[in-house]
Amino acid sequence: MVAETGVPLARRTAPPPAPRVERQFGRLVSRRGTRAAGHGWAPTLAPFASWDLTSEQTPVLWPLIAGDGLPPTGAPMGFDVLSGGAFFCDPMGWVTDDAIAVTNPNVFIFGKPGRGKSALVKAFLLRMTRFGYRSLILGDVKNEYEDLSRALGVEPFRIGPGLPGRINPLDLGPLADGWATADRGELARRTAVLTNRWLALLRGLIGSQRVPFGPTEERVLSHVLRHVAGWDVARSTPAAITIPMVWHALDNPSDDLIATCRYAARQAFFDSTRGLRDALGALCEGSLAGMFDAPSTFAPDWRAPIQTLSLRDLHSEGNETAVGIALMCLNSWGQGMRELVAPGDRRIVLRDEAWLQTRLSVEAVKALDSNLRLSRNDGDIQIVTYHKPSDPLSAGDVGSQAAQIAKDLLHLSDIRILMGQDAEVAAELRQLLGLTTSQQHLVTDWAMQAKGRALWMVGDRRFKVQTLLTGIEQQLTFTNAAVADVPGPGGATGVA
Ligand SMILES: Nc1ncnc2c1ncn2[C@@H]1O[C@H](COP(=O)(O)OP(=O)(O)O)[C@@H](O)[C@H]1O
Ligand SMILES: [Mg+2]
Repeated sequence: MVAETGVPLARRTAPPPAPRVERQFGRLVSRRGTRAAGHGWAPTLAPFASWDLTSEQTPVLWPLIAGDGLPPTGAPMGFDVLSGGAFFCDPMGWVTDDAIAVTNPNVFIFGKPGRGKSALVKAFLLRMTRFGYRSLILGDVKNEYEDLSRALGVEPFRIGPGLPGRINPLDLGPLADGWATADRGELARRTAVLTNRWLALLRGLIGSQRVPFGPTEERVLSHVLRHVAGWDVARSTPAAITIPMVWHALDNPSDDLIATCRYAARQAFFDSTRGLRDALGALCEGSLAGMFDAPSTFAPDWRAPIQTLSLRDLHSEGNETAVGIALMCLNSWGQGMRELVAPGDRRIVLRDEAWLQTRLSVEAVKALDSNLRLSRNDGDIQIVTYHKPSDPLSAGDVGSQAAQIAKDLLHLSDIRILMGQDAEVAAELRQLLGLTTSQQHLVTDWAMQAKGRALWMVGDRRFKVQTLLTGIEQQLTFTNAAVADVPGPGGATGVA
């Protein structure tokens, strides 16, 4: 350790022996302690080495010297292992505090499966309800948030093959309110916001079918969207549009559309948009069928403490691509739902297991990136959980454009929580997030030794934190029932 610093340090010279003084208080306890059971007697003394250091060098060798803590506001999460003090998480408070280098309340959580990412999120959601925060779970892949939701008195909404529930990812959302009375400028703003959101989603969905999406495709689609939504004719209320409607409009283009997209003939339009039409058709008949292809049957109740969308029925079919596509639809829909909110409606929006989406394609990473970038920053806390930082990189070659996009995505948050990881992931963590060697070891060694341990990167500060769960939280977060057929802590059998 001393050698690592590269600074030659002077070995401390032994002080001259102190002159013997007459003992005034009888027999003192020896340096080995008292030789009796339970008294901590040591047979050999620890070989302590001592050096002379300046105060500048000391913190390097003695990392237990804790820096300034964070203010005790927000959710109490556990304790800071280095200072022993309680650790609080308050993303919005950190943003408003100029002394903390956090400019947005987005939180990214990384960790090997089973290290406690979801448990941490659940505890955070519960503890933030005290401060008026409500939660929105955009895609609960394993239905593990259902217990929490029911404990808060809210019935979860399920989406899956054969289930009646539908979510329309192209929902107009709250932007449709007051459409008839809005002035021209406001309408232009709203149509631009909607078109951007829809295009980002369609680009992600089409790109994930390995169909190239360039400026031509974008131009054609934006015309189709205008046409289907009825914005090219005056309307008092916007029409509800769905992805199958977009596909049909492309498949049966009106002469108007062909002329606006500047194709000489109908056949030229068909030839040029074949990939686009086939990709949308495959989605409408495949991954989206029966779930994301009709008007929404679910309207979030923003006054409820939690709203959760369960996807386990889809996940248990084993088609991870379909789950990724479902998450992409829900993430985009969730962004739309939060475009206009009532004052004081503070919310934690969770995108759990986001890697299932981002590994689909570069376009899917871009879709998540735009969901996060365009989400309101004045009240919503966006949480994204990942397995490892390179998850988005599997969308393309490392070192290519995909890697750059993935890195940009990671830089959308100033708050990163790194839970335990295997050694192989260590180099990636180091490279992508700029960790030091000792921080890397924290993640691969210390954090692997107990659940809930994590390195918290808050702006430019680092904290070594152990999350603590209360008894009831342990029951609500227990997710190992399927793995080990044993009762959970406190006798709970957990999520089946
Ligand atoms: N801080 C903690 N203290 C005690 N148990 C925990 C803690 N964090 C997680 N667990 C337990 O570990 C198990 C796995 O946690 P989970 O949050 O599902 O992991 P992940 O989401 O990372 O896959 C759960 O049963 C949970 O109750
Ligand atoms: Mg989890």
